[in-house]
Amino acid sequence: MCGIVGYIGPEQGREILMNGLARLEYRGYDSAGIAMVDGQGLLQIVRCEGKLSGLVSKLAANPIDGTVGVAHTRWATHGRPSEQNAHPHRCGPLALVHNGIIENYASLKEVLQKEGHTFVSQTDTEVIVALLESERRKTGEYKQAVRNTLKKLKGSYAVVIVNEEEPDMLIAARNESPLIMGISESAFFLASDVPAILPYTRQVVYLNDEEIVFLSRQGYCIESLADGEKKNPAVRQVNWNPIMAEKAGYKHFMLKEIYEQPRAVIDTFRSVVDLDRRSVAFPELNLDKAVLERIERVFIVACGTSYHAGLVAKYMLEGLCRVPVEVDLASEFRSRDPILNERVLLLVISQSGETADTRAALKEGLDKGAHCRAIVNVVGSSIARMAQGVIYTHAGPEIGVASTKAFTTQLVALYLFAVHWAAQTGKASRETIERCVQDLIELPGKMEKILANTGKIEAWARKFKDFKDFLYLARGTLYPIALEGALKLKEISYIHAEGYAAGEMKHGPIALIDAEMPVMVLLRQGPLFEKMISNIQEVRARDGLILALIEGEPSQIVGEEQNQFVILPSSEWLSPVLFSLPLQLLAYHVAVLRGTDVDQPRNLAKSVTVE
Ligand code: AGP
Repeated sequence: MCGIVGYIGPEQGREILMNGLARLEYRGYDSAGIAMVDGQGLLQIVRCEGKLSGLVSKLAANPIDGTVGVAHTRWATHGRPSEQNAHPHRCGPLALVHNGIIENYASLKEVLQKEGHTFVSQTDTEVIVALLESERRKTGEYKQAVRNTLKKLKGSYAVVIVNEEEPDMLIAARNESPLIMGISESAFFLASDVPAILPYTRQVVYLNDEEIVFLSRQGYCIESLADGEKKNPAVRQVNWNPIMAEKAGYKHFMLKEIYEQPRAVIDTFRSVVDLDRRSVAFPELNLDKAVLERIERVFIVACGTSYHAGLVAKYMLEGLCRVPVEVDLASEFRSRDPILNERVLLLVISQSGETADTRAALKEGLDKGAHCRAIVNVVGSSIARMAQGVIYTHAGPEIGVASTKAFTTQLVALYLFAVHWAAQTGKASRETIERCVQDLIELPGKMEKILANTGKIEAWARKFKDFKDFLYLARGTLYPIALEGALKLKEISYIHAEGYAAGEMKHGPIALIDAEMPVMVLLRQGPLFEKMISNIQEVRARDGLILALIEGEPSQIVGEEQNQFVILPSSEWLSPVLFSLPLQLLAYHVAVLRGTDVDQPRNLAKSVTVE
């Protein structure tokens, strides 16, 4: 996944493009570049391997500028991170930036090489711009050459093209990779995501797959690649302000987003909960009683942290709605020819709404006639527009690569959906529904209390930051939180960590237990408490180091109080939200102590829009 920005307007655009890249760096950061047509009408390009700061330094020495240009920050797919493989790629008077994967680039490259073209990079992107220049020379008509080129591409792309010979035009197009257009009073912007253009405009047009936009200084024209039909999509007002996308004084976006969670949870349920009637309603989901009663099976499909949210939702939906639920990794679901039909509800979960595997899973459901709904955080994202109905989490922009507030608001959205379903179908009594709503209303206050009391978590981080392996154990609705806590630790601190069902420990992982293995156990009062105590004893008998998140109060059986963090009581379905918070903070503080790049961990990207 990469970050793209384009600009055309009356102002000099270098700072606009660079500010935009800085807000997209979470999308990829192994190289970056910028191309502009300068005041003498010449196309200038500066590129740099490594992070954006390297490009900033190069531009200080070579301050190109102009009123039309493109810029790019890369997450390498084809060709290792290097200046040679950095975008923009040039051919003749053209410079092009691209996000996505061109699947037939090798065959196209072969044809171009036979035509005498010499390639200087290993990227699929250079093939696009070379093909475009070849088409431009053949047709003699720039716009038609763009159409011809795009029709020859197979795979995903969001491209923006600047042409030295047409300095009053930017051309852009997308297929399966995100691209939005921003409109201000005097200028036009193109970007992979909203934060890049927020300082300049909140008027946004979301481009659809296989659409081309021709941008001039006076206006724009959008057409369908398939048949040239002119499109006139709505201009939407984005309700995020630039401050929301900034760090607001926190050291890292991740820490800011951890502390935004109580507010994000309130924003997520406020729009669907009637506080007076203690009821929940999702009118825009198009899933009324008649439809829900015909659903025989639910598939929940997602990736990474979003998948962990789906695992928790299984307990909610089976517990409250008594409907069978299967939870699948999107990459597996899409390739096993799942049995889907009109009696199946496919629910996909995605913060970005752009994850390639999740998009493909949703398409599988749509093609096979399932009822398809999505839980998404980014308004207007591809998945949001493909699904037949959307529940939006209102977490606001999540910039840190490690998902935090998106995860807890996904849990709340899934909980609300289960309550809605149980209410619509009568699977839960009025009293149960009202209690579920009351539990939710009390949740943000409990989250605040936990987040205000993190000293012990920071002490654990200092004590355990140099260990090489961690094991996270839990049961029931907390088992997915063990998986999530392990994912958080490994993805930002680079320590190996595994989440496991506690009941499974004796079937293998117990062989790992020794004095070098910190074991994080999550337990809450209830029928599973005693079983967790047994697991703790098994760990202790092998000199394992126990850390515990425990609901209610410390327990002597669990061990020393300094190794226990108390979680305020809540229901089995909402406790996962509360137990997530200290695990997010533990991962964060360990990573900070280890000096890793918390907001942009190595090898990762915020949204994996490639397969
Ligand atoms: C979570 O911390 C990771 N950044 C990653 O697992 C993420 O949850 C996954 O890539 C899915 O992304 P999505 O929710 O945007 O689809």
